[in-house]
Amino acid sequence: MKVCIVGASGKLGRYMVRQALDRGHEVVCVCRPRSVGKLDEFKGRVGIVPGATNDRDVIEKAVAGCDGVLVVLVPWGVQQYATGTAQAVLDFAQPGARLIFSCGWHITRDGQDVYPRSLRVFVAVFGWLARLARFADLDDQVEACRRVFASETRWTVVRGSDLEEGESQGLPVWSRHVGDPVLKSNLTRRVDFALFMVAALESDDLVHEAPAIVGCRSPSALEFAAPG
Ligand SMILES: NC(=O)c1ccc[n+]([C@@H]2O[C@H](COP(=O)([O-])OP(=O)(O)OC[C@H]3O[C@@H](n4cnc5c(N)ncnc54)[C@H](OP(=O)(O)O)[C@@H]3O)[C@@H](O)[C@H]2O)c1
Repeated sequence: MKVCIVGASGKLGRYMVRQALDRGHEVVCVCRPRSVGKLDEFKGRVGIVPGATNDRDVIEKAVAGCDGVLVVLVPWGVQQYATGTAQAVLDFAQPGARLIFSCGWHITRDGQDVYPRSLRVFVAVFGWLARLARFADLDDQVEACRRVFASETRWTVVRGSDLEEGESQGLPVWSRHVGDPVLKSNLTRRVDFALFMVAALESDDLVHEAPAIVGCRSPSALEFAAPG
């Protein structure tokens, strides 16, 4: 596949670039101009379109001819960065392309998620402080995902648990709803979040799903995941 990775220079993005290359995909990266150096390890093996990920011209150029687009949605800033990024991808990706977006458990598709108290407190406090200090806006990620859910493109929204670094443990397990016992451990290796995003490109079962993921070796996954 030819795959565009939007937000490629971040931690999740670089894991995805590595894994997409390992799978034999042709890769085009989008990242902010000041972050292009973070992609030096991939020099000569990927195309790079520098620019803000909510710049519609940048996205139009980067996704041209791509069969898949992996998008890191971040709530940073108060300029609707995530919403602008998602909308540009929805508008310019070629018809039929697989579109995979990242976010956190706090995003709900159908309101059926049951959140741990710790997450509710974190979202309330962090969300309030972030907006007050104008460094992030969690509602922007919510709006970005609302637009994705409403779109008729072939989307998947991957909802990450708390993340940690470390060696890959394998493909995370997932559930449609936070609150499902399989997710209780609330921890995934970032490298495996990337693994799930890249694998989703080739999974038709995940089209129009918003899987909440957890590490496959986490205690709750080991206890509650269906075998196989
Ligand atoms: N961190 C967690 O615990 C956690 C938990 C659950 C889900 N998630 C989700 O996982 C994904 C990756 O998150 P991550 O925390 O691991 O981050 P990350 O991979 O390091 O990515 C951060 C991204 O945000 C960009 N960025 C940073 N500051 C910015 C700014 N001021 N304006 C615009 N872009 C900016 C970075 O671009 P540059 O390279 O140009 O700086 C990079 O592309 C996100 O979708 C997040 O919602 C994270």
